[in-house]
Amino acid sequence: MIVLGIETSCDETAASVCIDGKIVSSIISSQEIHAEFGGVVPELASREHEYLLNTIVNRSLEKVGFNYHNIDGIAVTQGPGLAGTLLTGICFAKGLSQGLSIPIITVNHLEAHIFANFIADPELEFPFISLLVSGGHTQLWLIENVGKYKLLGETLDDAAGEAFDKGARILKLGYPGGPAIEKSAKGGIPSAIKFPRGLIKSDSFDFSFSGLKTALLYYMDDYSNNTITMNDVAASYQEAIIDVLSIKLSKAMDYYKITTCVIAGGVAANKNLRTRIHTLLPEKKVIFPELDLCTDNAAMVAYLGELKLKNGEQSKINFGVKPNLKMITF
Ligand code: KG4
Ligand code: ZN
Repeated sequence: MIVLGIETSCDETAASVCIDGKIVSSIISSQEIHAEFGGVVPELASREHEYLLNTIVNRSLEKVGFNYHNIDGIAVTQGPGLAGTLLTGICFAKGLSQGLSIPIITVNHLEAHIFANFIADPELEFPFISLLVSGGHTQLWLIENVGKYKLLGETLDDAAGEAFDKGARILKLGYPGGPAIEKSAKGGIPSAIKFPRGLIKSDSFDFSFSGLKTALLYYMDDYSNNTITMNDVAASYQEAIIDVLSIKLSKAMDYYKITTCVIAGGVAANKNLRTRIHTLLPEKKVIFPELDLCTDNAAMVAYLGELKLKNGEQSKINFGVKPNLKMITF
């Protein structure tokens, strides 16, 4: 089965083709227009998707010598995400589905992030724990089977990626904050400043990053210490986020006696986080998908969509956007 996947939940315009579980093309265009605003401007993001979608979809098909008539089905992200940006992808996908008389299936963006790990490692087996760390989400999931997911914990305030982005804004390092802080942290000492580790001592698997951001804000208000460099500040801030993420993941693995974990979402691109988790869990199977599969992409949408279509699922054409779509838990 040949499935075209479309992803427009935030600021990546992406299209991908999946054939029988194999991704044969994946095109991602990251919108740079938001950098000057220090964060995604929803209205601008929607307009960019509208402008780019046709080109990106065509490129994903042309890459494998296909045109629209080769597709057997369409998969599109329904949520969670920005209402306006989701709408652009959905309208485009619906048009194709109607015009070509082929089935359409909606995909949950979070579930797709988790399934990106099957593209990264086809040998991946249930059960596993997924740490989902993106700009909008920080969640720990126990994935028992297809459609059988248990939310173990999540952030009570800011997401980890948001903490990186807000921290970078305070440190005037630019957007997106994660790569900017990681770069600045390279020359710094992670133990220079002891920033708070939210909920680190709590038995729950929930997270909290808003206190960390406030601590950084106060620290910078009084910053005048020549012995502590801005690289030290970035390294210490990053260290606080990595500490919490890795320790909570490790505790969850022990508590649920799970031997495999997968790390998804944009923050999974962080090399220090990768090293720390590998160090902390030497006996476990740890999967970090490659960068293009960690951040927003349409390969994960096409892959999950094809799985669902093959399972006999199909969406009625009158579905709408679901900006707050959750994953069903058991
Ligand atoms: O999954 P994603 O691409 O988009 C969604 O939010 O769904 O994640 C984007 C987030 C941003 O907050 C960005 O700062 C963060 O991932 N990020 C990183 C790194 N690269 C991207 N955070 C830490 N270190 C990185 N290298
Ligand atoms: Zn995402």
